[in-house]
Amino acid sequence: METLIEIVLPGIAEPEELQVRRRAIPAPGAGQALVRVEATGVSFAEQQMRRGRYYDQPPYPFVPGYDLVGTVTATGAGTDAALAGRRVAALTKVGGWRTHTVLDAADLVPVPDGVSAVQAETVVVNGITAWQMLHRLARVRAGQTVLVLGANGGVGSILVQLAQLAGAKVIGTASQRHHDTLRAAGVTPVDYRADVPAQVRALAPDGVDAVFDHVGGPAIVDSWKLVRRGGTLVSYGSASTRDATGNSQLPILKMLARVYAWNLLPNGRHAYFFNLWGGLRRKDRFRARISTDLSTVLEKMAAGQVSATVAAELPLTSAAEAMRLAESRTVAGKVVLTP
Ligand SMILES: NC(=O)c1ccc[n+]([C@@H]2O[C@H](COP(=O)([O-])OP(=O)(O)OC[C@H]3O[C@@H](n4cnc5c(N)ncnc54)[C@H](OP(=O)(O)O)[C@@H]3O)[C@@H](O)[C@H]2O)c1
Repeated sequence: METLIEIVLPGIAEPEELQVRRRAIPAPGAGQALVRVEATGVSFAEQQMRRGRYYDQPPYPFVPGYDLVGTVTATGAGTDAALAGRRVAALTKVGGWRTHTVLDAADLVPVPDGVSAVQAETVVVNGITAWQMLHRLARVRAGQTVLVLGANGGVGSILVQLAQLAGAKVIGTASQRHHDTLRAAGVTPVDYRADVPAQVRALAPDGVDAVFDHVGGPAIVDSWKLVRRGGTLVSYGSASTRDATGNSQLPILKMLARVYAWNLLPNGRHAYFFNLWGGLRRKDRFRARISTDLSTVLEKMAAGQVSATVAAELPLTSAAEAMRLAESRTVAGKVVLTP
């Protein structure tokens, strides 16, 4: 019997309490495909999930893993047999930390030739998030200036590249250790441990055209104030409340209330709370949008227009070490797990 390996989050847990489990590899059902996973990764969501702080995580125990890249090894009834042997990427939210997985074929996005599994992995959830915020919400255009908080992070590093590709100038916050890397990437760095509004005002006295804020908490007010007339604030996370106690949905609800109130003001600015899973109630439309946007980012990677920022590559069974590293606040880009 062929078995798969998967990493189980048993409950609110330290990374070392993650469990390695073996079980039989399931067969794909109708409309499904069996994927041999080649790369998955650590997202901020798993840091929240292990603390019970992700706003819509499933009940414990479960297998984390927000996205994956792999090769189709078998197809079920009614699934296009030509998928077999194809490298594909998928957004899973949970369940990616496995050596093999069965997914709906409609959720698989082909990875272009010339893009490795590890490279592609850096832009699945991160690339879709960045692309949709930039082009479906803020509609960033050439000549604009944008502020990216956490420009060294997984989402931040691809957001920077896609904003630059759109012709925007990027100011990015990060700790000092990442400033040389940001400068080398054409980003004007700002130290988030110092006065961010003052540093940004010194660079953009009238404010910026868009702010991408995953930090949340009270400092979101500073981000809003930095948006110039006609500009956009995109709030998309609440990293600053990861270790808070109490209702895990409250920080998001507070931001939604703020965003709603700000949009009522007659000041020509717009505020959004971006949620990858929100907005589209019809699954087929959601899938189509994910597929289009991820394909666009992957094509840009294949064309050499965006590059993968890999913080580290570790074996799947070192998921605990990978989580510790991702949470160390020292890395740039995506921590990738390879089965
Ligand atoms: N709304 C959506 O649909 C959606 C989708 C995907 C991701 N996200 C959000 O995007 C954010 C980034 O995710 P990711 O996977 O790219 O994470 P990541 O790779 O771990 O990067 C996290 C970034 O946030 C910074 N950071 C961490 N803790 C912070 C804190 N307490 N205060 C301020 N900055 C902090 C880090 O800076 P240091 O390196 O200096 O610690 C780093 O730049 C998360 O908040 C996540 O929830 C939202």
